[in-house]
Amino acid sequence: MSDASPSRRPRVLSGAQPTADSYHLGNYFGAFRQWAAMQDEFEAFYFIPDLHAITIDYDPALLRERTYIAAAQMLASGVDPDRSILFVQSQVPEHAQLAWVFNCLTGFGEASRMTQFKDKSAKNGAEKASVGLFTYPMLMAADILIYQADKVPVGEDQRQHVELTRNLAQRFNHRFGETFTVPEAHIVKETAKIYDLQDPTRKMSGSNASHAGVVDLADTPKQVAKKVRSAVTDSGSEIYFDREAKPGVSNLLTIYSAVTGKTVEEVVADYEGRQYGHLKVELGDLLADFVGGFSERAQGYLDDRAELDRIFATSAEKAREMTVPMLRTVYERSGFVLPG
Ligand code: TYM
Repeated sequence: MSDASPSRRPRVLSGAQPTADSYHLGNYFGAFRQWAAMQDEFEAFYFIPDLHAITIDYDPALLRERTYIAAAQMLASGVDPDRSILFVQSQVPEHAQLAWVFNCLTGFGEASRMTQFKDKSAKNGAEKASVGLFTYPMLMAADILIYQADKVPVGEDQRQHVELTRNLAQRFNHRFGETFTVPEAHIVKETAKIYDLQDPTRKMSGSNASHAGVVDLADTPKQVAKKVRSAVTDSGSEIYFDREAKPGVSNLLTIYSAVTGKTVEEVVADYEGRQYGHLKVELGDLLADFVGGFSERAQGYLDDRAELDRIFATSAEKAREMTVPMLRTVYERSGFVLPG
């Protein structure tokens, strides 16, 4: 049952963890923008992976609040609940039920090679890392495969997880018969990795120790302008794109290009003969405007929790139309005796 009937639209699926009080520019340019752009051509499934969010230390009340914020920011990014299914992972229990099967199909060594696990577990010492953090990629595989997703729009840091997902789909198909669509990562090269403004050799991330280099989508315009004006730049004074020699300037050029729709070459041409300071002040103003409008839209959605709950309920119901029969098929092929 790979349900690849010619009549069905290709499917896109992606998620973003509700582990901070706001998503940041990296999430927006690396992922959300693609989500919104793909919802017409594809049958779209976007979700808030709250089960993934408890793989690290967390506070239950905060998780619940952040789940609503996540939905509001996804909607503010252009995800349209009439065209996309926007759901909460824990409301669709089949994800976790399928994940068990993938846990049992994945080698311990294979899971140990996941670089995100290695990075995250190294932060607080491997002894303290939860078993959930270790099995996280297999839950992600279940998220994707249970919908027969064709494309998974993500940033570069998720490539290895999508690769594992492909391997698991092929492994299951090989052992138990053709069942899963083998998905592809959809990674837009230019914005696949947005870097921290204070340390442009590491990715922008909500878990970076200092937030000075992380532009949150919920920052005030003033905060944004200040963060960009204080961005670390490189030696020399000429503005051009060179990731090795000019990591700071290259990151600013990438963001400038993403927010204006100009190519990096066009931006470089615009700034010929001008200084880093000009680039930072002007980009700061552009981003302040962008984030200002964004926050206003997100707040509008956040103010109506009942409507968000309604979207979640309708979406979970639609999602389960797919996940319940799919899980049944997988369990049947796995050798389980199905309930009457
Ligand atoms: P998460 O929550 O860390 O990030 C959400 C999305 O944002 C992208 N991203 C970035 N892109 C460019 N530059 C950056 N600095 C940057 N930081 C983050 C991420 O690549 C991601 O696309 N495991 C996933 C969540 C998940 C998922 C899934 C994704 C769970 N199940 C199924 C796709 C399909 C994660 O932790 O992303």
